[in-house]
Amino acid sequence: MNVSIIVPTFNEGPNIAELLRRIAAVLPADSYEVLFVDDSTDDTPAIVTACAAESEAPVRLIHRDAPDGGLGGAVVEGLAAARNQWCVVMDGDLQHPPEVLPRLIERAGQGDADVVVASRYAAGGTSAGLAGWLRTAVSRLSTLVTKAMFPVRLRACSDPMTGFFLVDRDAVRSETLKPRGFKILLEILARARYRVAEVPFDFAERFAGRSKASFLQGLRFLLQLTMLRFGRMSGFAVIGAIGAVANLLIMAGLQSLGLDYLWAAIIASEITIIGNFLLIEHFVFADLRSHASATWSRFAKSFAFNNAEAVIRIPAMSLLIEATHIPSVLAAAITLIIAFVVRFVFHSLVVYAP
Ligand code: GDD
Ligand code: MN
Repeated sequence: MNVSIIVPTFNEGPNIAELLRRIAAVLPADSYEVLFVDDSTDDTPAIVTACAAESEAPVRLIHRDAPDGGLGGAVVEGLAAARNQWCVVMDGDLQHPPEVLPRLIERAGQGDADVVVASRYAAGGTSAGLAGWLRTAVSRLSTLVTKAMFPVRLRACSDPMTGFFLVDRDAVRSETLKPRGFKILLEILARARYRVAEVPFDFAERFAGRSKASFLQGLRFLLQLTMLRFGRMSGFAVIGAIGAVANLLIMAGLQSLGLDYLWAAIIASEITIIGNFLLIEHFVFADLRSHASATWSRFAKSFAFNNAEAVIRIPAMSLLIEATHIPSVLAAAITLIIAFVVRFVFHSLVVYAP
């Protein structure tokens, strides 16, 4: 069976030669190609080109000047450009030992799986390369939560966050993928039903360089998960809730500096409205931006809407109380819910309209 080995890279120069050497040591040269999908800002592309000239097996490089979708986007682009039906996805830093490749390929050869996952958490696998107890705990916990959110589709997968797997490209419905951030396997498995098999492996230490994972990646992951499960509106709601808390904190801070409560409330609201716009641009509507109007025009619409909403909601609440005589807390809750839905609809259909 021939495979395409897709390796997303971001500044991994010192790892390239070692990776290719270790792959060549375990697979026949005529049985695979390596496809680097690279977003580097350093000399990694030049190193890949130099190593490709030395390699017996074909080594290709897709360098992206305008990286789209980060690591996940790179993998989707690799799947589209691969020459073989079976594609391995693996990291370029040797945390995914190439020595596992023959077992992955052999497992796929049994013909009863669309996806073969290299798992740290299947019996016989380890995650020793996860530096520190904190990352290990976060990884374990997020795996549990994720499996709980997709109990059926992830039943057969003990490690949905792994970046090491083999897929039948023809089985993967790549048009359904909206890759954002690091967790591309989860994105694939959660969107459709596949036959999943597993091979345990030992997650190793990095060979050279530093991890690109960050707190921001973690936040992005949580939102990705929420939206994958509950739709775009849930991401919008999470960010709205963060904004509501921030609004209160800023207001309290300004008041403690001696500002009058009305001014504190106005300034806190404006800061929150702007922050909210930046967050939804980045996390909720990122995929719609390129087809929507210009950034300043989106901002103007969003800003105007949110200010109008803030001004209208209070009198609307009084009207509701007068008309129906319901308790004021209930009236506040009703107007907040209506405002939230209208805000979401307005942003989806107007601010980010194609
Ligand atoms: N093209 C591209 N673009 N590649 C990227 C980008 C990007 O924006 N960001 C990271 N990469 C590449 C890295 O160069 C590396 O080859 C691979 O993706 C993994 O990145 P690391 O920085 O090594 O991440 P990690 O080791 O913290 O995370 C890995 O393990 C996690 C499980 O603990 C990844 O495999 C994750 O997907 C996995 O969840
Ligand atoms: Mn790594």
